[in-house]
Amino acid sequence: MLVNLQTIIGMAEKGGYCIPAFNVYNIETVMGVIDAAEQERAPVIIQVYPRLINEEVGFYIAPAALAAARRASVPVCFHLDHGAGISEVSRMLYWGATGIMRDASTEDFENNVRLTREVVDLCAPIGVGVEGEIGHIGSVNDETMDEFTDPADAAEFVKRTGVCCLAVLVGNAHGHYKKPPKLDIERIKAIRESTGGIPLVLHGGSGIPDEEVRAAIAAGIRKMNVGTDVCCAFADGTKRALDDPKRSIGVDVFMKSAIESVKALATEKIRLVGANGKA
Ligand code: 13P
Repeated sequence: MLVNLQTIIGMAEKGGYCIPAFNVYNIETVMGVIDAAEQERAPVIIQVYPRLINEEVGFYIAPAALAAARRASVPVCFHLDHGAGISEVSRMLYWGATGIMRDASTEDFENNVRLTREVVDLCAPIGVGVEGEIGHIGSVNDETMDEFTDPADAAEFVKRTGVCCLAVLVGNAHGHYKKPPKLDIERIKAIRESTGGIPLVLHGGSGIPDEEVRAAIAAGIRKMNVGTDVCCAFADGTKRALDDPKRSIGVDVFMKSAIESVKALATEKIRLVGANGKA
């Protein structure tokens, strides 16, 4: 069933666990994630990057993701990841998104507040919750890996924007880490405290050691994003199918291995964050 961001995050908050948010790229990655969620009886978020929304592929993938969410027997939120502007936000709302991230984290504090608030006000009348970001979460190749979200800034940001969850920079980054990251768990706790318990979001979920993820959830992380691992699982499954001497030329048959591979990855992450059996 299709649910909105604040509902699914509220489930995690109440149960003290975390919702896995998988980036999806095509129908096969949607199928792998939804199959895993059904099998594990888990609430999940499927989300798309702005790149997909701004290119032709969004026109096809958004309706497919929405149909999958509606058809699922477990709660599924269809979410925009890292929405950089109003055009992406409005396009995704038009396509039926039930969660929106407005990422203005590269702007200065006042602009980040203003641009995020604008989207919260746009989404509120239609019941769509908004994720904000404070402290810019870059790529593993950036120089900014040692910059962190300030708890006092986070508190003011949450109060002034009205976001329903907040992405924070606590030693995480997008992409495959060069060495296993050490998250600043005390900072996660401090941000939770300073913000009066806002549900926190951990981006860059691919490659964070399991024990770090569990400690982060215990400290207040309620949504964890996984993108790179979904891509790698899809690529591995496709390669296995290609290498199979008995492979079928039928594309739907051929793609089954990629779907299974994404399903296995999603199952592993669902169990890691404790979302299994919660739907
Ligand atoms: P990874 O690609 O590092 O898993 O990060 C995904 C993410 O945070 C999407 O916003």
